[in-house]
Amino acid sequence: EPKIIRNKEEMRNWSRSMRAQGKTIGFVPTMGYLHQGHLSLIAEAQKHTQLIVVSIYVNPGQFAVNEDLSTYPSDFQGDIEKLKSIPKGVDVVFNPQNLYDYGDERGQPDVKMRQKDGEIVSCLEDDGRGIGHETWIRVEKLEKGMCGKSRPVFFRGVATVVAKLFNVIEPDVAVFGKKDYQQWRIIQRMVRDLDFAVKVIGSELMREEDGLAMSSRNVHLSPQERKQALSISRSLFEAKSAARKGKIICSELRKSVTESIEASGGKIDYVEIVDQESLETVDEIKNGVVMCVAAWFGKVRLLDNMEIDIS
Ligand code: PAJ
Repeated sequence: EPKIIRNKEEMRNWSRSMRAQGKTIGFVPTMGYLHQGHLSLIAEAQKHTQLIVVSIYVNPGQFAVNEDLSTYPSDFQGDIEKLKSIPKGVDVVFNPQNLYDYGDERGQPDVKMRQKDGEIVSCLEDDGRGIGHETWIRVEKLEKGMCGKSRPVFFRGVATVVAKLFNVIEPDVAVFGKKDYQQWRIIQRMVRDLDFAVKVIGSELMREEDGLAMSSRNVHLSPQERKQALSISRSLFEAKSAARKGKIICSELRKSVTESIEASGGKIDYVEIVDQESLETVDEIKNGVVMCVAAWFGKVRLLDNMEIDIS
């Protein structure tokens, strides 16, 4: 039975009392609607620490006003049941209700579903009634490309909420999925640059049996879109084996991936081949690159990627 904590002060007290008893704490941040991908991160965290905290929090700060905050899937009770069923279990589920509440008269900032002067803002914005929240972390270079292009406020929202969660939970280790490759690298970089006392671990991308990358958003795919979306992983596997056979010109590989996703009915957001650490684009495949894809199937934006090592 995990203990459920909804208050950030209580969360910090729990962590500090465990620390005082010499315990180590592993942390897995999530937005809930848990699947095997999330559970694999918990299993990874369990290898490193005695205690495990999982957060379930759909963070308004990382959604733009035109995005899917209001339809993001959730099933808190179902999530708790899943967490109860895993070996060794989870110690705390942190489901904060006051994360952006700073105790002024304004309380929890409103979730805004509007555009401000034509500018894209996140769903967590000062509505003019009070000070709200105005501090954001930007990981300037790493956040520019790929998902940062079509989602300009996404990574500042992610980096900021993760920093807040680290400050509340004070974990020794935190585990992120390589499914969200750019997110993982951005958090690693933030932790390094700002001297957070936490070790960040990247954990392997988990797929469904047919290859589709697991995602909470997959539930929004129609049966037809679900089948069509297999073109993403299929084309990535094909590109990887082509690269290993010597097809190393990235523009050509990107073109084949793009064409097969489009042929199946998907709409490409990006197909990029980048260095695994700097996330800078490369022209020819070499060791240590990753192919990253974002594509729309109907109203669902899906991410996938594959690391390529040719030697
Ligand atoms: P969420 O999409 O719920 O993902 C939580 C964690 O699970 C992330 O580290 C993500 O990379 C990982 N994950 C998701 N699908 C996975 C898969 N198929 N295989 C392996 N890992 C997978 O990512 C977020 O939430 C948020 O941005 C968050 C970091 C919680 C900040 O709000």
